[in-house]
Order: sequence, then C-alpha cells, then structure tokens
Amino acid sequence: MNLLGKRILIGIGGGIAVYRVAELTRLLKKSGMEVRCVMTRSACEFVSPLTFEALTGEEVHTELFDLTGEREMGHIQLARWADAVIIAPATSNLIARFAHGIADDLLTTIMQVCDKPVLLAPAMNSSMWDATATQHNINTLLQNGISVVGPEAGELACGESGAGRLSEPRAIISALLPLLTKQNLNGQHWVINAGPTVEAWDDVRLLTNRASGMLGAMLADLAVIKGAEVSLIAGPGTPETHPDIKRFDVESAKQMHTACKHEAAEADVFIATAAVSDFRFDKVCQGKLKRGDTTSMSVNMIANPDIVAEIAAMQKRPTKVIAFAAEASDHIEHARAKLVKKGVDAIIANDISNMGSDKSNGWWISDTETFAIESVTKFEFAQSIINHIMEN
Ligand code: C5P
Repeated sequence: MNLLGKRILIGIGGGIAVYRVAELTRLLKKSGMEVRCVMTRSACEFVSPLTFEALTGEEVHTELFDLTGEREMGHIQLARWADAVIIAPATSNLIARFAHGIADDLLTTIMQVCDKPVLLAPAMNSSMWDATATQHNINTLLQNGISVVGPEAGELACGESGAGRLSEPRAIISALLPLLTKQNLNGQHWVINAGPTVEAWDDVRLLTNRASGMLGAMLADLAVIKGAEVSLIAGPGTPETHPDIKRFDVESAKQMHTACKHEAAEADVFIATAAVSDFRFDKVCQGKLKRGDTTSMSVNMIANPDIVAEIAAMQKRPTKVIAFAAEASDHIEHARAKLVKKGVDAIIANDISNMGSDKSNGWWISDTETFAIESVTKFEFAQSIINHIMEN
C-alpha cells in the first residue's frame, strides 16, 4: 500500500508508555506518512513535546485555548486534516472521557469532532484494564466503530504483570493499515444471516441449537457503521442491532432461505453466520403430540436447502460469499472441504466452544490463504473479519 503522504494524527495520553510512542512516531515518518501529534497535559509530564516536534518536524499541539495554535491549525482542522488517528497510550482516563463524550481538553475535543478512523492503543496497569468500567467503556467505543489494538500481556512498568502493555509499534502500524485502505463501505449492500433456526415439530416442541446470533449482529453493526446498506436475516434470540439495519426476524430455515435469497439478489457481500438446521420435520403436527404408551419412536426428517451454497451458485451472485464452519476437531481440514463443497469464497473455521460465548477465535480459509484470527472478544473477532473483507 502506498503510505506516502497519508496523514496520521497521534493523540498522546499521559502514561509511562509515552516513550514507546516516540518509536511509533519515528516508524510512521519513516514509512513516508505525515505525522502530527497532540499531547495531553499529563503526557507532557512524562516526555517533553520537544521530542515529538523533533521527530515529526511539526509543532506539537497541547492546549485547547492556545490562540496562536488555533489560528494556524484549529482543533477542527486537525481532526479534518488526518486520514486516521492513533491514540497511544490510550489511558483508562482518556478511554473513559472518549466513551462519555467529555471534551475538556484539546485531544478529547478533537475526538468529539473526528469522523476519521480511530485506533486506540491502550496501556495501563492490568487491574485498571480489567476494571468493569474500563471494559464497559472500551465496548462502547468498539460499538461506535473505533478500533483497538492491544494491550499486550507481559511485565508492566509498575512491576506487576498482566494485560496492560502498549502494543509494539509495528503491531500498532499493522492494525492501522486496514483503516487506511478503504475507509468506508459506502454504496455497498451487505447481507448477513445470524442466530439459530427453529424447526417446529408440533405447536409446542422445537428443534434448535445453541447459536446466539452475537457474531452476526456485531458484523452487521460494524458494516452499517462503516457505511454499508445492511440486511440482517436474524434467527430467534439474535441481539438487538443498529436501527439503520434492514432486519428480518425469522424462525425456520425455510423462512431464512427465502429472505436471504431475496436480499442477496442485489448484494455485494453475503456472510452466512447463522447456524441453520440441516433438517426439518417432514410433518409438523398440530396441537401437542401425545406420548401414548410407546417407549421409543422415530421421526422422519427432510434436508433443508443449503442457503450459502445456493447463494454462491446464483448466476448473479454477491462478489464475496463467506461461510462459517463450527467444528469440534480438525477445524482447518473440515472447513477446507466445505469451502469447495459450498463454492464459497472464504470460510471461517471456529471451534464449537465459541457458540454462545463472548470470546472467539478461528481461521480464515480461502483458495489463496489460510491464517489464524486470534482475538479475545467476539467484537475483536468481528472487527478482524470485517477488516479482512475490506482489504481484499
Ligand atoms: O455444513 P455446515 O452446516 O457446517 O456449514 C456451515 C455454514 O453453512 C454456515 O455458514 C451456515 O450458515 C451455512 N449453512 C447454510 N444452510 C444450511 C446449513 C448451513 O447456509 N442449511
């Protein structure tokens, strides 16, 4: 990717990891990007703005009410100037202020008006990172479309160890690159299905599975935040989603099949996260079936259509059709066989233990690449998937 001239604004928070941001700044400059820095007052307690002025060759901005600074490059222009913003170290206090829209200094004011991609690189004591309030604030920011890299686990400056180290400068740059490639999905139509399906046996009994719909809902939220028109075909229990999503709540595989095919006819991307029942009851009985005196019984079931395979085979199909494969063992091998069988462009293999959990990891498998998507939260997993689809 041509990084020459890309404009990066680094918002520097007050933490001991500031000194490592100097190396990040140097690397960004070295790869041909234009870099400007804004420091909070407490960041200046750790390292002098002079360090960043020397590294960037630009004035470092620190004060909101600095008239000379405002005349030359006001806070609004700084936000408009940047192609992307990195916040490093993102301290617990900065994260809290961003999450709550508190704009009481130059950096937080810039963040409030910024409509460019933002990457947070948190660094703090691990107990502060784990604190409920910090995790809540990070989730709020993730849901607002902000990206996060790290923190890494390891020895911390305070002598303790745990998750709280600022990510390596090169890891921060790797996380920044996808944000610079395509900044939005304007003009694209994405169709995503999510959740379980429910097959009725009679008016009371149902056949379903443990899927929560969480990942599909997060993918749909992220895609809409990035500007796509999104249709979500949601099985029962799929969490609430962004109001701009065109959502179809369905129950059975047949209903999901009809809605998906209808929406995918004009789509650019189709992502099949739903755990669709492979079979349905041949006969749905009315009322409540009686047990009677039988000690065993057999039920006849018939196969449901394979939705993703049908969409991948449509004559006018979405440019990218992506399936998931929840596997209990030999994940990559099984997923690769499904990639071919279903005719999809990529398949994401994950472990069945991810189902219903708020954690996820897995492998992205296509004809040309296989790599692990390591993540901690399901939201980060969703973010990695979206970034990879946007990059390719
Ligand atoms: O074959 P298996 O069910 O493991 O494949 C999982 C993938 O296929 C998921 O992406 C799922 O949404 C999709 N699928 C489908 N229609 C079915 C069964 C699965 O689209 N009837």
